Amino acid sequence: MFQMLRRLIRVCSIRDYTTNMAQPTSVRIVEVGPRDGLQNEPTLLPAETKIELVNALSETGLRSIEVTSFVSSKWVPQMGDNAEVFKGINKLPGISYSVLTPNLKGFQAALKAGAEEVAVFGAASESFTKKNVNCSIAESLSRFQDVMDAAKEANVRVRGYVSTVVGCPYEGKIKPSAVVRVVDKLLEMGCYEISLGDTIGVGTPGNFSEMLREVTKIAPISMLAVHCHDTYGQALPNILASLDFGVAVIDASVSGLGGCPYARGASGNAATEDVVYMLHGLGIDTGIDLGKLVNVGKFICEKLGRQSESKVNRAMRKTNPCAAG
Ligand code: HMG
Ligand code: MG
Repeated sequence: MFQMLRRLIRVCSIRDYTTNMAQPTSVRIVEVGPRDGLQNEPTLLPAETKIELVNALSETGLRSIEVTSFVSSKWVPQMGDNAEVFKGINKLPGISYSVLTPNLKGFQAALKAGAEEVAVFGAASESFTKKNVNCSIAESLSRFQDVMDAAKEANVRVRGYVSTVVGCPYEGKIKPSAVVRVVDKLLEMGCYEISLGDTIGVGTPGNFSEMLREVTKIAPISMLAVHCHDTYGQALPNILASLDFGVAVIDASVSGLGGCPYARGASGNAATEDVVYMLHGLGIDTGIDLGKLVNVGKFICEKLGRQSESKVNRAMRKTNPCAAG
């Protein structure tokens, strides 16, 4: 009864963005570089480097940083130092430092390390869910419910991810209705925000908008974020399409690092530098100092021994160091 009432209130608060397209005036970037950006890296980085990365990101004006994940180190070895990294970072006021928790075990470890915000991560595809967290969608949701119950008791905020929102590496095209089902469940459980993930970066503004059109029928835009990997070079166009729906929370990864170990071939996220440059060009405030962010990208790319995937980063460092806005 209470859940039905909550759903009714949620649905009644929805504005029709298909007839009232309005870009937000400010956007909150969720920086996922330390987690999504590093989880796929084959060479283990020392915890001190990860701590240095998060501390440097904290100085750029970001308000949300995803630090690490409390998953099995047998599955994702790069995240094996989760507690050390989380405890080691300087936590500045006004910044939310979140971590991924797939189950109660992960949540309890995160809580012990001092986490005040966690994220559960589901998917719209059965096959991806099985590969990623070794269970069905239904079982993953039941594990998330355990996390939600414990989080409520501990006064911890829970964000929800839905992966494979337009395409799955194992099943191909994903129907918007499959996304809607999982989004609805996560909102019902009490996630304060849902991040819609194009895990393998196959979306285009066409199918990404089609998916958003359906999801926004059951979820207020203020509770949605987008998480676009850039495998096919569509991350920025998809983000722009999302802005037209009024989406005001965007996940991005410094210098475009990232990928999911269970989505082979998927490249990094939208580069935070590129997203910030585009948003500032659109007159949308982020509170982020692009020049400082470019330097963080340079720092982590040097540590990884690779070139930045951010075009803005490369351009600003080579040709126009004064372009930082
Ligand atoms: P499992 O093997 O099914 O778990 O893994 P289990 O319950 O059968 O336990 C097996 C062992 O794992 C046991 O240890 C447990 O204690 C341990 P043993 O007795 O063998 O020594 N275990 C854990 N250890 C540490 N932390 C935990 C934990 N849970 C159990 N939380 C599990 C299930 C979820 C743990 C596993 O599948 C896993 O760790 N998967 C990794 C998933 C992952 O990190 N994927 C990448 C992030 S998702 C992503 O990138 C997408 C996203 O960016 C959005 C997008 O792009 O779309 C978010
Ligand atoms: Mg991702």
